Amino acid sequence: METLKIFGGNTLNGEIEVDGSKNSFLPIMAASVLCDGEIVLKRYPNLSDLIIMREILGTLNISTHVDGKTLYIDSRNSENKKITHDLTQKVRASIFILGALLGKFRSAVIAYPGGCNIGERPIDIHLKSFRTLGCRIIERHGYIYCYGENMKAGEVVLDFPSVGATESLLMCACVLEGETIIRNPAKEPEIVDLQEFINSMGGNVKGAGTDKIVINGVKSLHGTTFSVMYDRIVAGTYLLATATCGGHVLVKGVDSRHNSSLLAYLRQTACQIDVFNDKIELKADKRLSSIKRVTTMPYPFFPTDLQAPMMTLQSVSQGVCFLEETIFENRFGHVFELKKMGADIITKNRIAMIRGVDRLFGADVTATDLRAGAALVMAGMKAEGYTTIHNVDLIDRGYEKIEEKYALLGADIKRITI
Ligand code: UD1
Repeated sequence: METLKIFGGNTLNGEIEVDGSKNSFLPIMAASVLCDGEIVLKRYPNLSDLIIMREILGTLNISTHVDGKTLYIDSRNSENKKITHDLTQKVRASIFILGALLGKFRSAVIAYPGGCNIGERPIDIHLKSFRTLGCRIIERHGYIYCYGENMKAGEVVLDFPSVGATESLLMCACVLEGETIIRNPAKEPEIVDLQEFINSMGGNVKGAGTDKIVINGVKSLHGTTFSVMYDRIVAGTYLLATATCGGHVLVKGVDSRHNSSLLAYLRQTACQIDVFNDKIELKADKRLSSIKRVTTMPYPFFPTDLQAPMMTLQSVSQGVCFLEETIFENRFGHVFELKKMGADIITKNRIAMIRGVDRLFGADVTATDLRAGAALVMAGMKAEGYTTIHNVDLIDRGYEKIEEKYALLGADIKRITI
């Protein structure tokens, strides 16, 4: 059992580096099943979700090892195996393996995925897409049995631009003979990264990041070396943390285009932002003003993964903010915890009204999901007195040694093992 113990009140100052994106690594690691070779992935962050994905690859006889910030994957002896409940429960992204196995072996058996407690998170769009391409699917006893021997390239229209469903389809269709078209795909930068990765293995995918993705299936894919994109959500969290606590921070390892909706919102608050090639500098030397309305939406709009950190900033800003969550139906778990710390928040359905208070107080709080945990760390660093954060393992899913990163910027934060 571990907790984070924070003594709040310090401003954040200095430089901080961002690693590769967890949400890009997960589908890219799954897609490595597709090739018969060695893959080298750069900017690897040591996150528990990625360790579980390595375990899943291990069950398919795919070996992995890490050297510093590089992940090596050897897919030469991959085998098709059942992915059991004990693994899929630990990480929702286990569902990506389904698309990759279907592509490579034309069959797959996988238990339903688990993941963060932020909503029902069905996988109907994934399964409907595979069915559209001719896959026979039987759902029994918590397992999904997929038979893809008659799968053919074709046109798939997604009911909603689901990130995961778009990625699953890309993985499956890139080795399916003929031309597959995905309409209404997700446009997130992680989809573009997956396209670039598949193409670097010899695939032929075009259009990621637009309304239409065109995939021309190839017979086989080869090994590659690839630098995974920077984590735009981690970068955004650091920027929001600096805006909340005050200070002057240079975030290194960021593609500012991926954070344009966040930067547009932050510019409304009167903090000073300077954007360089792969760096963003943020200076906040006074209490910031509230943003009147923030709405989470699919990319390029404001990401749901920054909703909780944004709520912490709004909790201590001057004025009132209406924050709407349109992606997940149950992503306000942090509200109850922030209120324990003195935040003034009222929620109705998926809208939160946040009246900024001039100070928060330290308290014992619990992370309800990964990003909620990141939001509570920010609140703890801002609050008066001590804050103890429980369920730190949820934070470790997406932030590597968060306490060390913030301590380097001047925060008083420690990990305590009970
Ligand atoms: C990915 C990200 C997650 C982010 C989310 C939205 C990864 C590993 N995770 O999750 O961090 O918060 O995108 O940007 O990349 N839906 C269905 N049926 C489906 C699939 C999705 O109804 O088959 C719904 C979901 O319940 C949710 C919405 O669509 O309400 C968006 O989900 P989706 O875009 O698929 O998110 P994930 O890929 O799960």
